[in-house]
Amino acid sequence: MNEQTYVTLNDGTRIPQMGIGVYMVAGDDLTERTVAEALRLGYRHVDTAHAYGNERGVGRAIARSGIDRDEVWVTSKLWPSEYGEGATSAAIDRMLARLGTDHLDLLLLHQQFGDYLGAWRDMERAVAEGRVRSIGISNFESDRLEELCEAATIKPSVLQVECHPFYQQRALKERVSRYGTAIECWYPLGHADAGLLGNGVIAIIAEAHGKSAAQVILRWHIQTGNIVFPKSTNPAHLAANLDVFDFALAADEMAAIDALDCGKRFFNMTLEQQERTLGAFAPED
Ligand SMILES: NC(=O)c1ccc[n+]([C@@H]2O[C@H](COP(=O)([O-])OP(=O)(O)OC[C@H]3O[C@@H](n4cnc5c(N)ncnc54)[C@H](OP(=O)(O)O)[C@@H]3O)[C@@H](O)[C@H]2O)c1
Repeated sequence: MNEQTYVTLNDGTRIPQMGIGVYMVAGDDLTERTVAEALRLGYRHVDTAHAYGNERGVGRAIARSGIDRDEVWVTSKLWPSEYGEGATSAAIDRMLARLGTDHLDLLLLHQQFGDYLGAWRDMERAVAEGRVRSIGISNFESDRLEELCEAATIKPSVLQVECHPFYQQRALKERVSRYGTAIECWYPLGHADAGLLGNGVIAIIAEAHGKSAAQVILRWHIQTGNIVFPKSTNPAHLAANLDVFDFALAADEMAAIDALDCGKRFFNMTLEQQERTLGAFAPED
C-alpha cells in the first residue's frame, strides 16, 4: 500500500491521483527547484497554468530531471484571454513552447467565461492532432458547466474546483457524473487554513495514525476518489504530502471527516465578479 494511486479518466487515460500544484510559486527559478525536488521525491504529476507565470520553470525541471517525459503527467490551463477558435490553437502552441514539450497530458479551461465554446473546439482538435491527451475544465460551477458539456464532442475528463473537507462538492460531483468527469480538488488543504489544519476531529485521527493533519486530509481525498496536487515549496511538506500511501482511514474515520462538510469555501466570487475582476487580467507569454 506504499504506491501512488491512479484515477482512470473518461477517455481511458490514468492520472496519478497525487501531484504537486505550483500556484503562487513565484517565478521560474523557484518553480524549477521546487518541481525538481518533487520529482526527486517521486511525484509524477505537476499542475500549473499559464496564469501562474511559471510554466518555463516546470518544463526545465522535467527536462533536467532525466525522467522520461512520458512518466510525468503535466497539466496546464488556458486563460480566457486565449479562448476562441483559432486563437486557442495558437495559444496551445505557445504553451507547449513555454513548457518545452510536444504534448500536454491535460489541458484545462481555467475559468468559466469568455469564448469557452470556441476554445473547446480547438482543444478537441488539439487532441486529434496529438498535441494534448486529455481535456477538461476548471471553475465551471454555473449552468455554463452543462452548456459546455452538452456542446462538447469530447466530454471534459476532469473538473477542477475548490474542494476540501469543509467544502466537499457533493452536488457538483452528482452534476458531472453523467459525463464521467472526475473531480480535481484545488485548495485540497484549504490553502493552509488554520481552522482546517487545526480541526479537532482531524487532530484525533492524525494522532491515532501517527500522521499530521495535512496527511490525514490528503489521505481522505485519496480514499474519496479526488485528484489532488497540494502546493508546497517546503521540502519537508513535499515529502510528507507524498507519504500518504502507507496507511488507510477506517470507515468511521472517513465518515467523521465527511461530516465536516459545512459549505465553507475560501474563495468566493459570483460569476459577475469573476468576469469583471479576473477578466481584466491577461497573462503574458
Ligand atoms: N484552477 C484553479 O482556479 C486553482 C485555484 C487554486 C489552486 N489551484 C491548484 O491547486 C493547487 C493547490 O492549491 P493551493 O496551493 O492554493 O492550496 P493548498 O495546496 O490547499 O495549500 C497550500 C498551502 O499549504 C501549505 N502546506 C502544504 N503542505 C503542507 C503540510 N504538509 N503541512 C502544512 N502546510 C502545508 C503550503 O505552504 P508551504 O509551501 O510552506 O508548504 C501552502 O501555504 C495549486 O498549486 C494549483 O495547482 C487551482
